Amino acid sequence: MKKIAETIVPINDLISERWSPRAFDSNHVIEENLIKSLFEAARWAPSCYGDQPWQFILFKKEDTTSWVSVLNCLSVGNQNWAMDTSIIIVICANKNFNHNNEPNRWSHYDTGAAAENICLQATSIGLSTHQMGGFDQEKIRKLSNIPKQFDILSCMAVGKQLDESKLSKVQKDKETQVRSRKPLGDIYFVNEWK
Ligand SMILES: Cc1cc2nc3c(=O)[nH]c(=O)nc-3n(C[C@H](O)[C@H](O)[C@H](O)COP(=O)(O)O)c2cc1C
Repeated sequence: MKKIAETIVPINDLISERWSPRAFDSNHVIEENLIKSLFEAARWAPSCYGDQPWQFILFKKEDTTSWVSVLNCLSVGNQNWAMDTSIIIVICANKNFNHNNEPNRWSHYDTGAAAENICLQATSIGLSTHQMGGFDQEKIRKLSNIPKQFDILSCMAVGKQLDESKLSKVQKDKETQVRSRKPLGDIYFVNEWK
């Protein structure tokens, strides 16, 4: 199923085609070079001072023990569909600048930009992404030995989308929901706050 964004004016196809499905092909293995292309896309995101505050941790379904461990860090609702994806990327941001170790108040902003680059790169190679805030931070921190200096922002599941027929009723209802957004005119002001 495609859920192309309905836009008032035309936008880039990759942006309108990206969405967050739940039905994935549990047998799909993503080729190593395609996985690398996701991180390559992230690498070229802009960042304050060019600091590149992001750090990613990759989990592949083939590494069964680690895969089960990371799935266990997700909320049950997320586990239900994320188990069928092919990889999970844990997305972290350095709280401090690399160049002087001072607090970096743009690190989440920059890491979000890198994450969106991953989503769009995935879309461009026929893969789908679904990000998750529903996970146990401390469990993942312990599992992957993530230093305190890094915030754990999200987990991104990536895989090959399937038709929604395999989903449970609850998941199918979510999958087929119409995508909605605030009206275009509501998200920007001209010159001053209204
Ligand atoms: C930081 C973040 C956290 C999210 N957390 C979850 C989550 O825990 N579970 C889930 O099913 N979707 C989650 N989502 C997906 C959003 O619900 C989804 O992106 C949003 O509804 C817009 O839909 P679209 O991505 O299909 O355009 C999350 C998205 C982001 C960016």
